[in-house]
Amino acid sequence: MGSHDDGRTRAWEAAGRAAAALVNDGDRVGLGTGRAAAAGIRALGARVADGLRCVGVPTSRASQALGRELGIPLARMRGPVDIAFDGADLVTPVGLTVKGAGGALVRERIVDGSAARFLVLVDAPKIGMSLDSWGVLPVATVPFAAEHVALALSDLSPTRRPGRSDDGLAIIDVTVPAGADWERLDARIRAVAGIVDTGLFRVEPRDVLVGAPDGSVRALSEFLPAG
Ligand code: A5P
Repeated sequence: MGSHDDGRTRAWEAAGRAAAALVNDGDRVGLGTGRAAAAGIRALGARVADGLRCVGVPTSRASQALGRELGIPLARMRGPVDIAFDGADLVTPVGLTVKGAGGALVRERIVDGSAARFLVLVDAPKIGMSLDSWGVLPVATVPFAAEHVALALSDLSPTRRPGRSDDGLAIIDVTVPAGADWERLDARIRAVAGIVDTGLFRVEPRDVLVGAPDGSVRALSEFLPAG
């Protein structure tokens, strides 16, 4: 673990603290999945230990386990949440986002997508002018359709991940050609029977919290104005 990794961890922790600070007493809070989200869950746990009352709705078994360990009261997904925070793999200045490297994209869509405010926690290396610098879109499919989906998307070099998601789904990573229109391609992918969801999200640049190794945090809208 070099200083570069330590710096990224500090940046995600800073974004996580900023997200936890935005939770209000009585909120139902979507708890994301991954390293940045875990930093947010730990910061929220510290606030709960200090007396904040809130209920967490986890997007994965891992986040559920972390929330429980920290003493955050947890609930199942049932109606919208007030605020959610989660990580991302890459975000563009206009908020087009790829998620799902951790395989939790379906629960993330359900929980994060229901939130009155959805905060995305990243550091500067996760901001790109185009999603091409990530280049991979995860696709969640019912296992029965996995081979059918892979065949339908054979021009996108589909690669099935080993194992299954928390919901028993198969995750297939497809390679998006450089210069492709990600939203058009996403629509084509979603039209294939058996696909449950993809990792393409759209988020508000003002709600993307970009942490830095020095502990500072800026919204993407001020860090890198769109347009
Ligand atoms: C989980 O399925 C993902 O959407 C993660 O939120 C995303 O991959 C970012 O994870 P890290 O914060 O660990 O990079």
